[in-house]
Amino acid sequence: METLKIGICGWGNVATGLYKTIIDNKELINSNGNLDIEISVIGARRDNPKCDPGNIEIVRDIFDVTEKEIDVVVELIGGVEVARELILKAIRNKKHVVTANKAVIFNHGDEIVEEANKNGVKFLYESSVCAGTPIIKLLREELAANKISKIAGMLNGTSNFILSNMEEGADFQPTLELAQKEGYAEPDPTFDIEGMDAAHKIGILSSLAFGIPLPPDDFHIEGISKIEKDDFKYAVEMGYTIKHLAVTKLNNNEIELRAHPALVRSNSYLANLKGVRNGIEVETDLLGTLHIAGSGAGQEATASGLISDLIFLANSKMNSSPDKSKDKKNLLNFQSLSFQYYFYIEAEDIPGVMASITAMFAEKNIGIESIVQKENLNEKVVPIVLITDAFVESKHMELKENILNLDSVNSVRSIRIESD
Ligand SMILES: NC(=O)c1ccc[n+]([C@@H]2O[C@H](COP(=O)([O-])OP(=O)(O)OC[C@H]3O[C@@H](n4cnc5c(N)ncnc54)[C@H](OP(=O)(O)O)[C@@H]3O)[C@@H](O)[C@H]2O)c1
Repeated sequence: METLKIGICGWGNVATGLYKTIIDNKELINSNGNLDIEISVIGARRDNPKCDPGNIEIVRDIFDVTEKEIDVVVELIGGVEVARELILKAIRNKKHVVTANKAVIFNHGDEIVEEANKNGVKFLYESSVCAGTPIIKLLREELAANKISKIAGMLNGTSNFILSNMEEGADFQPTLELAQKEGYAEPDPTFDIEGMDAAHKIGILSSLAFGIPLPPDDFHIEGISKIEKDDFKYAVEMGYTIKHLAVTKLNNNEIELRAHPALVRSNSYLANLKGVRNGIEVETDLLGTLHIAGSGAGQEATASGLISDLIFLANSKMNSSPDKSKDKKNLLNFQSLSFQYYFYIEAEDIPGVMASITAMFAEKNIGIESIVQKENLNEKVVPIVLITDAFVESKHMELKENILNLDSVNSVRSIRIESD
């Protein structure tokens, strides 16, 4: 059995989860992974009251870990620039690197992989996307013979938790507070609810599946903070629910990359994944559509992914970091993509209001698939809900503004519909 000496940088949530799992599941890792993992050193600028590391050496400067007699540096400090420096230093000191840090990969992935290959070491990051739910090695190894045409999923547990509760009738703000109380959302939840976390993850998956550069060019990122619980009521009546989707797709040899709320069919696989779980759908030519779901965060789930990287590292004969597709592809301009849309319009209940709204769509040659005037909210205000035919994104904002500029219209919301 091989022994791998590791140094852990960072002594927070994930690091202590990794430490405990390596100790608690030692026999399992020995027998299933044919590997003995020895934690030689931990880089921690302060002690962790929740975890006693026993006799393991502690160094206060995390960069010193890269100088030790170890095989692997496990980077668990998070963030971007210090993590980049630390990883590059470890690689130049001929250490393999395992990380759970999506932000550093999204921003500096190409540079790091190039440096790892130059130095003959591996850079692995299974737990950076959906924690231990296997997707990185799945794309890189198991699906290597497949042409992938689309990856779509709910990649942020907090957003999925909030939207699932709103589907049951809860409001956004109290549900966000509940997510924070339950420990799903960060004290500052901006990254989760504004879509950035999911965007980082889909960027990484797109680089693996389609070879887009890391960091990618700008792409459309939108969060869930403007969704109202009434949108669920109307979506459900029309056979849909609302999810926060991160999508990358091959489209005429160019790549779509986007993260935004979307209506998805109620009977689809993704629609039925509720709560904090992450779920991903991968469309392939040889295996058809694959579904993967699991916990996307937490100490244990992340430790599972980190240890799978360590086992892969020990058992793999390659002495470079697995490279992604050499055939680099361009990102499609989001404004050129077409979507069907759900529109919710609050208007004054006066004669001719429907006609003036539909005229706005006709002016832009946008067909309406269905339109329903709902029960009045009060004596004067009526909600109108409609589904459009597909139209190009570049018309979307102007259309919304034109509708809002009508004297009889008080507010407008719109959500894209993800095609089947
Ligand atoms: N938590 C999850 O469920 C999860 C899931 C998947 C991936 N991840 C990723 O795992 C990584 C770690 O997350 P976490 O939840 O363990 O974070 P955390 O609890 O905040 O732990 C981070 C640790 O790194 C240390 N650290 C940060 N910057 C440092 C610096 N410049 N120098 C020295 N030490 C530094 C912190 O020390 P101080 O305490 O002194 O600040 C702390 O010990 C992140 O990249 C995160 O995105 C987390």
